[in-house]
Amino acid sequence: MDRNVPQHIAIIMDGNGRWAKEKNRPRTAGHYQGTENVRNIAIKANDMGVKVLTLYAFSTENWKRPQEEVNYLMGLPAIFITKFLKELMEKGIKIATIGDLSAFPDSTRKVLEEAMEKTRDNKNMTLVFAMNYGGRKDIVDGINRYVDDYVSGRVREKMTEELFNSYLSTAEYPEIDLMIRTSLDYRLSNFLLWQLSYTELYFTDTYWPDFTPEEFEKAINNFTQRSRRFGGLKDEN
Ligand code: IPE
Ligand code: IPE
Ligand code: MG
Repeated sequence: MDRNVPQHIAIIMDGNGRWAKEKNRPRTAGHYQGTENVRNIAIKANDMGVKVLTLYAFSTENWKRPQEEVNYLMGLPAIFITKFLKELMEKGIKIATIGDLSAFPDSTRKVLEEAMEKTRDNKNMTLVFAMNYGGRKDIVDGINRYVDDYVSGRVREKMTEELFNSYLSTAEYPEIDLMIRTSLDYRLSNFLLWQLSYTELYFTDTYWPDFTPEEFEKAINNFTQRSRRFGGLKDEN
């Protein structure tokens, strides 16, 4: 594996609606095209040696959208998996999720659970879909689980940063090196709030459906030129 390639990349896949609007098409057409692009970027990331790719697919705030759009978004995991699972298997990609799937229709949950089970032993990249995910909810859920463990005596330690990490939905994954947001909005929109504390950020004006593997590579090349100091000093300083 190329040591310059980030181990863990997170992406806020934004701009599906604007992409569709520019083409006078319904927002759902943008979501469909965006889903196709998940395949392209996942394959590229895996080929480049990325270990974990976490994609923001549906936020805890996205329930505010019109019911029709929410329903369409709920159906996308099935479309994605039906179309691409075979290829992901061939590439050794493992599928995982973070976020609260309990609010999703049974059919969506079933498709995701089957795909996770089927790809469980794959050893290349893990493709994590953040679905009904909110950074604040992740933190609050973690606190509640810690409180239960502490009160019941299963855990006796006081809270530390390391212990807290283990209570988050991302516990098993490495630190996020690079976070990409497409469509030129400069905000986190309640994505991985705790986890992004020292992540390098990359913003592009390209809408997610148009974000090509070449542009993804460009983002990684940009990342590799940055000097990550983590509050310290580098030799050249
Ligand atoms: C991102 O695209 C997809 C989801 C949030 C599910 P948007 O639907 O937010 O697209 P814009 O921001 O309206 O263009
Ligand atoms: C963030 O995009 C959520 C996802 C990409 C799933 P939004 O489009 O929902 O975020 P805001 O509304 O611009 O903050
Ligand atoms: Mg948006």
